[in-house]
Amino acid sequence: MRKLFIFDTTLRDGEQSLGLTLNVKEKLEIGRQLVRLGVDVIEAGFPASSPGDMDSVKTIAREVKGVIICGLSRAVEKDIDCCAQALREADQPRIHTGIAVSPIHMERKLKLTPDQVVQTAVSAVKHAKKYMEDVEFYAEDAFRSEPAFLARVLEQVINAGATVVNIPDTVGYATPWEYGELIAYVMNHVSNIHKAVVSIHCHNDLGMATANSLAGIKAGASQVEGTINGIGERAGNTSLEEVIMSVYTQRERYEIELGVNTQEISATSRLVSRITGVPVPFHKAIVGANAFMHASGIHQDGVLKETSTYEIINPEVIGIPRNTIILSARSGHHALKHRLEELGYFLETDQLEEIYQKFLRLADQKKEVFDEDLHALMGSTGADQNGQISFKKVSVNTSGDAASTSTATITLEILGETQTDAACGIGPVDAVFKAIDRVVKKPVHLEDYTLKSVSRGSEALGDATVKLRYGEKDTVVVGRGISTDIIEASARAYVNALSKIKEFQG
Ligand code: KIV
Ligand code: ZN
Repeated sequence: MRKLFIFDTTLRDGEQSLGLTLNVKEKLEIGRQLVRLGVDVIEAGFPASSPGDMDSVKTIAREVKGVIICGLSRAVEKDIDCCAQALREADQPRIHTGIAVSPIHMERKLKLTPDQVVQTAVSAVKHAKKYMEDVEFYAEDAFRSEPAFLARVLEQVINAGATVVNIPDTVGYATPWEYGELIAYVMNHVSNIHKAVVSIHCHNDLGMATANSLAGIKAGASQVEGTINGIGERAGNTSLEEVIMSVYTQRERYEIELGVNTQEISATSRLVSRITGVPVPFHKAIVGANAFMHASGIHQDGVLKETSTYEIINPEVIGIPRNTIILSARSGHHALKHRLEELGYFLETDQLEEIYQKFLRLADQKKEVFDEDLHALMGSTGADQNGQISFKKVSVNTSGDAASTSTATITLEILGETQTDAACGIGPVDAVFKAIDRVVKKPVHLEDYTLKSVSRGSEALGDATVKLRYGEKDTVVVGRGISTDIIEASARAYVNALSKIKEFQG
């Protein structure tokens, strides 16, 4: 049976779309989790695009092992040189180079003739081959290209040494049957196609990225590209967790081997959402909070009698353990440790003690502590404590009338020194953010602020996300804060975002 190679581009196509830059530490954390998930390829970035990307790809290449580390590059020699340099310390490096092949891109964007495009593509692959064996070629906007021309380009780049050929639906325009036909066309009309792995890369503009990818796999592709939670340019990329679980759930249909550890799907999705600040919609397939909930009476009745009546995936398969014990203020260390391990968190004794104390404080405020609360507690551990700036306390006074003015007093620890200041604002959150600005004295701009509840009930944890824009390059950082007090959650999120700006990095 052929194997389905999973190519993750969360850190490249995913990050590119966020309007923010993840720092190296955050990218490493995602990279390491992707290894636990068992992906075959991590596209770590586009090294020629910025010194920051160069640095991230270099670090991931050096630190993340047991997986192919790939860098993106245009079909331009200096990009390819940059890419090769960034990948120098990777055990299994891959350069992903390419050029657009559709008439509209060639004429309007590149202003090159088809012959010139073929020539540029072949030269790029040959140049990349000077550095390494594994070279993937992408034919950008392949779905809107002339199939005969696409076949000609692919044949020539494979002759030049491309080991993988990527056939993207760059603008998410395909339907499953058309995309499947294009992949079948490539399989049948490119004479040397057996010498390369055929890869598919779909975008979700019409909501069909997963369906198109499955059609591509059915038609003979052996590598699928996508991102965790489907984040990506415009409407996003193919959600890898959706493709993985579609193939897993109907393995007989696809006749393809899947090498991933599905039990890491839920943890990977949560991590990517936490680090990027992009929430997962409740109804999102596979990883949404409601994906395994049964609300209607008829469904609940069916599931209680036989789970498979309404459940096609056992949640345990993606790493969501079934709940057998209820955690409350009466639960001891052992019960908490057991549940955390079921959820994938293995803690040292001192870490467990820290979490246990947080758990007790939370359990005092809530009758039951749910899995979502535990994820939130784990996600908040050390989040605003990087040694350079940390939250200490906040208090707010608000006058009674509607368009009220609030006064906030905030205490932070900055470089080991405790600092307090106060400010007025329109409402409590505005006042808190202004008070923090007065302490920190950095020109930052609040780009976005959201607040949601983590679990159920009025005593649920508040989960705040703050996006700040700062510096000459308009860098955007994301921070998150969690507390049963929504003002404190907001303050923690703001401080957590500040801790990621360069001046406060340890
Ligand atoms: O969508 C696309 O065509 C891409 C390529 C750069 C691979 O992301
Ligand atoms: Zn793309």
